[in-house]
Amino acid sequence: MSKIQLDYSYVTDFIKEKDLHKMQTKVTEVHQVIEDRTGIGSDFLGWLDLPNRVKIADLERINRVADDVRKNSDVLVVIGIGGSYLGAKAVIDALSHSFHNSLPNKTPQVFFAGQNMSAKYYDDLKDVLLNRKVSVNVISKSGTTTEPALGLRYLRDILSGSMAKEQVRQRIIATTDESKGSLKKMADKEGYETFVIPDDVGGRYSVLTPVGLLPIAVAGININELLQGARDMEKLLKEPDIMKNPAYMYAAIRFMLHTTGNKAIEILTNFDPSLHYFSEWWKQLYGESEGKDNKSLYPASVDFSTDLHSMGQWIQQGTRNIFETFLWVEKSRGGAQVPKLDEDTDGFNFLAGQNFDAVNRKAYEGVTLAHHDGKVPNMTVLIPEMNAYYMGQLIFFFEKACAMSGYLLRVNPFDQPGVEAYKSNMFALLGKAGFEAKAKEVNEHLKSVQRKIV
Ligand code: PA5
Repeated sequence: MSKIQLDYSYVTDFIKEKDLHKMQTKVTEVHQVIEDRTGIGSDFLGWLDLPNRVKIADLERINRVADDVRKNSDVLVVIGIGGSYLGAKAVIDALSHSFHNSLPNKTPQVFFAGQNMSAKYYDDLKDVLLNRKVSVNVISKSGTTTEPALGLRYLRDILSGSMAKEQVRQRIIATTDESKGSLKKMADKEGYETFVIPDDVGGRYSVLTPVGLLPIAVAGININELLQGARDMEKLLKEPDIMKNPAYMYAAIRFMLHTTGNKAIEILTNFDPSLHYFSEWWKQLYGESEGKDNKSLYPASVDFSTDLHSMGQWIQQGTRNIFETFLWVEKSRGGAQVPKLDEDTDGFNFLAGQNFDAVNRKAYEGVTLAHHDGKVPNMTVLIPEMNAYYMGQLIFFFEKACAMSGYLLRVNPFDQPGVEAYKSNMFALLGKAGFEAKAKEVNEHLKSVQRKIV
């Protein structure tokens, strides 16, 4: 079976190869810290051997529950935010029909909620759920997050409008902590089917737990193949040598571009709209893992060729503080070809009969070269084919690289203390019990702000 590889040909004009090789000593040290689980935050390294640790009985249960949902539902609404939705959304979008949100005609559509607090979004969701058989998977590790809690209230209300309490109970599945949190309490009280998120796996590393596996299985995607891909990548990435470990090479390059090459922004780039949410998952993984202690790269993303007609200009000629990481899928999944016109009015008959992806490939080859010539170092993660197996490889590749990268930067890649700041302000402003002192402070602070509005 082939594997994901890293092409770094367009980096070596910006980082000397001998300097890259000097990184090996640091990488070997960090590798040992990861494998021995002795680094900061190592209580959350459970994802490291997760693909191998998952029990057959647990997988069978996930597949069984997913089958039931598929038989009984037109729609599955997945409620969760951050790490509790982005992994499933990324995999489902990457592997499903572009206009159906799952595999067409075989599975329920998978919609997402609890990832925002827009009244319009919830109105619209209610509209599309009308007269459809709906199941709900609510996911929250802490079990206390505002957005999914409100989303669950709303969905329960919708379900209760058309069915008895017992039927509502049968249509809700909770994925949460084994013992803590209000979601766990509610699930126990109501008798919901429940899946457990392991203690030692943080939200953004949890896609290969029931958090991602259940919705992905409901969408008709083979989770056994997904895990096999992750397992094979896990084995490959046990190698400390950066010349044999593409994830470590990727981490070493981004570290050098940031610290000695003065790059502030990494742009993840794809050539297929189905990978848009993969970039969103990646942004959370790197943004939340590394963005602390006043350091780290800003993880950004674009979708090509679409964004070549917007951000392409900036990337080619704007501030030179960026580098790009391309995702390129080698094998085409589609058969669409460029039709021939009787009269070549638009001048594109020279492409007639070509698969769209063959044209897309030339755009990729052209743009990596152009951006390199425009002084944007770039590398490519080469993906042999877009299927569940390689998606599993890709997920594990970026997770392992993120641990290496975070430790190289000397941050704790597994916590997210900064996420709490907005929450306590919001709770204070909403008048939540227990936030009275904070409310006083926030209100005084708000009053002191000199509003300048034109
Ligand atoms: O990666 C993380 O830990 C976060 O993004 C969480 O996943 C997110 O805040 C949601 O938290 P919870 O699953 O506890 O509702």
